[in-house]
Amino acid sequence: MALSTVTWKLSRAGQRLAAARRNGLRGIPVEAARLTKEFARAPLALAAEYVFDVRRGVRTRGFVRNESALSRLSVGGDGNYYQPIGLSPLRRLVATIPVDPAAATFVDLGAGRGRAVLLAAELGFGRVLGIELDPDLAAEGAENVRRWRAGRRGRHSAGQVVDVVPGDAAGFTPPEGPLVIALFNSFGATTLKLLLARLCEEQREDAAPLFFAYINPVHEGTFEEFPRLVPHSRAPGWTVFRLAPESPRP
Ligand SMILES: C[S@@+](CC[C@H](N)C(=O)[O-])C[C@H]1O[C@@H](n2cnc3c(N)ncnc32)[C@H](O)[C@@H]1O
Repeated sequence: MALSTVTWKLSRAGQRLAAARRNGLRGIPVEAARLTKEFARAPLALAAEYVFDVRRGVRTRGFVRNESALSRLSVGGDGNYYQPIGLSPLRRLVATIPVDPAAATFVDLGAGRGRAVLLAAELGFGRVLGIELDPDLAAEGAENVRRWRAGRRGRHSAGQVVDVVPGDAAGFTPPEGPLVIALFNSFGATTLKLLLARLCEEQREDAAPLFFAYINPVHEGTFEEFPRLVPHSRAPGWTVFRLAPESPRP
């Protein structure tokens, strides 16, 4: 783990304790216990992430504090910096989604270096697309896909399409067919609203379900404005929504 990541994690811990203190002294032991648990688990998680990268000959680890550059690039101006997704939540939430991965498209909005894209490809999705606002990260993501494919030596399914491309999630148009969209807290409420409004305009066939997996769902309250997106499954740290065929009647 880079020194900058350690410094960042320690300063975040300080901020969380300060926030707990503002909510009353009794919150501090609870937050401290949570932080202790997280720090105790960190070495294992970091080791797993290191092994993930080394086995595939890719580099998805590390933070990139690119948020100031992103604010000039996006329509919503509220992009969050690159922090790679944890390895296990994605596997667990995909297991709750009733689609045949081979017949479905998986889209990661804010793909960064492409970790979720590679995981989804290994879970067998027929088409996997990562969309990333930061052009440098998009290029790194595409390079990671190229290396991953070279390392698989034909072990990926025939006809599987996997890619990371530059773009702003605010302008995302969902492709046809069964679709799983993943969002790992890539941006704030402004971009999220633009995106959800577009999704809710969708007229989809029954055979083309749309699921939206929101990981680290900081702005989950925003979904209340979009009643066509109904909760499908949930665990601490993520919620999966399903796009209902039409708006429920009031
Ligand atoms: C928390 S990281 C997501 C990590 C990634 N999904 C993974 O698999 O590890 C957020 C990413 O979203 C990107 N981002 C921020 N705003 C965006 C936008 N409007 N459209 C697309 N990408 C965006 C950032 O550059 C950053 O790489």
